Amino acid sequence: MCGIIGYIGHANATDVLIDGLRRLEYRGYDSAGIAVLQHGRLEVRQRVGKLRNLEEALKQEDLVGTAGIGHTRWATHGRPSEDNAHPHRSGNVVIVHNGIIENYLVLKQRLECDGYHFESETDTEVIAHLLARSMAEGRSLPQALLATVQELRGSYAIAGLCGSDPDTLVAARSGCSLVLGQSQDASFLASDVTPLLPYTRNVMFLEDGDIGIVTRHGITAIDREGRPVFRDRVAIDWNAEEAERGGYPHFMLKEIHEQPQAILDTLRGRYRYDEGEADLGDVTIPPDALMNAGQIWIVACGTSWHAGLVGKYLFEELIRKPVQVDIGSEFRYRKAMVRKGDVLLALSQSGETADTLGAMREAKRLGAYVVSVVNVVGSTMARESDGVLYTRCGPEISVASTKAFTGQIIALYLLALHIGRGRNVLSRDKGQWWLDQCLALPGQVEHVIKRDAELLSVAKRFYQKDNFLYLGRGIHYPIALEGALKLKEISYIHAEGYAAGEMKHGPIALIDENMPVVVLAPRDRLYPKTVSNLMEVKTRNAPVIAFTSEGDHDLDALADCVFTIPDTLALLSAIPLTVALQLLAYHIGALRNIDVDRPRNLAKSVTVE
Ligand code: AGP
Repeated sequence: MCGIIGYIGHANATDVLIDGLRRLEYRGYDSAGIAVLQHGRLEVRQRVGKLRNLEEALKQEDLVGTAGIGHTRWATHGRPSEDNAHPHRSGNVVIVHNGIIENYLVLKQRLECDGYHFESETDTEVIAHLLARSMAEGRSLPQALLATVQELRGSYAIAGLCGSDPDTLVAARSGCSLVLGQSQDASFLASDVTPLLPYTRNVMFLEDGDIGIVTRHGITAIDREGRPVFRDRVAIDWNAEEAERGGYPHFMLKEIHEQPQAILDTLRGRYRYDEGEADLGDVTIPPDALMNAGQIWIVACGTSWHAGLVGKYLFEELIRKPVQVDIGSEFRYRKAMVRKGDVLLALSQSGETADTLGAMREAKRLGAYVVSVVNVVGSTMARESDGVLYTRCGPEISVASTKAFTGQIIALYLLALHIGRGRNVLSRDKGQWWLDQCLALPGQVEHVIKRDAELLSVAKRFYQKDNFLYLGRGIHYPIALEGALKLKEISYIHAEGYAAGEMKHGPIALIDENMPVVVLAPRDRLYPKTVSNLMEVKTRNAPVIAFTSEGDHDLDALADCVFTIPDTLALLSAIPLTVALQLLAYHIGALRNIDVDRPRNLAKSVTVE
């Protein structure tokens, strides 16, 4: 998730672009760049790191013009570096891009054969060359962009500018947001409305397939066939802070809602459906190292550790591969019996967690191949591991991890498919079937999110309680741990997650009418056992909040509240279930007036032991 800004007017574009990027920096901050049309020449400036590095560099010169585009990057393809920073240029054309071009390798090979030279490792640079080529064939800038996007597969928001057409900016969208804005004497484009608010509240949202045309006199759009298309003008009444959160009251809620897209982005371009296989070409360790691993280890901390536990159930059940899961701080000192040829998966949103990093280094020293599954491109773990599988969830701002967790589980689904097919444990048909299940997840998550009001009413009933217990069996046990962690982090309520079968070995002593118990009971083979545990709780007068599968009405009479999730395989129901628990925790935290995005004592990256 990157930030895009474009300006064409009469003021100094450099100032407007930098101001806009500052407001978009929450979308990505590993590098930033602008292109400004100065005296008919395109001038491009990029810097690695936070925006202030670019600002410092620009202080040394007078970059002046009245049209330009800018970008703040959240890397997906290619580490954060000046070469990989946007804008990307081809001859007299510059572009910026947010999203992922799935077929960029094929396009790149074709363009290289045609003599185009590539300067970056990004998927984006192909767009610049395609656009330049299309203009060289005699098309106008908007028509050239239209022809360009017809060659792209994937998701994108693109803005472009050409030295030979100084009065127009162009934009295209498919799957990533893009908004155009118009003031009295200038026009704008941006990833979201945040950077436009100081200048205008009169905006127009592009729809998938649209090409936006932005001039000093106005904003218009054409559709995929090149015909003018009308899009409603919207008057925005958000303040700047609300706009950054996309109108959501908290980043956490926004990030929960981004999960359907994040799941798709993690999967995008990483499978070959016809063969029922995962395509993990972007993980750079030899494929047979994963297939033939002696032992698979997973290390992580906090929420990422819960994702690791999900991975254990998944690998063992789906592909019959034994897995050991460790907490980073334990693994690194416990003399784990790692052998040469083992594979260690290090899971981390930030890629900077000291304990996971320490564990990873120790495993490497002992001879294991290390694959990190991280969200932040170019993070220390990504740099130090033998292979990286990026979760591509976009920046997670809220301290409580949500979309990164589901992204990690999707990455584990892909790894399981990759290993299962490679070891012939999964047939092609089974692989396709598995992909079908995974591809259904965004819709299932969307469905849960749409029924948020039900979770809010559960939250209203219980938010003043002091203790919660979460119970689950099988793959839903780590989800119970995660549900409890989420609640304690953002509500300061004491919450414990337990394997449902363990309750009778101790925690049952705590149960009374003041202890709400969240029971995770989707209809799987362990359902009858979980229901017995639910009964044990109910008999002791605890209020029960049950999560089960759609179509199940057996719990209606037993539980105080029932929330249903789409009826899917147990191995996959972990995802919609998690999203429901995130929303429940979120509402409880918000009702208790907690600063949900910045809970006390916590930090987004824990870089100390
Ligand atoms: C999650 O909500 C937490 N804030 C925390 O447990 C986090 O998952 C943990 O610190 C690990 O972080 P990482 O994924 O960046 O390594």
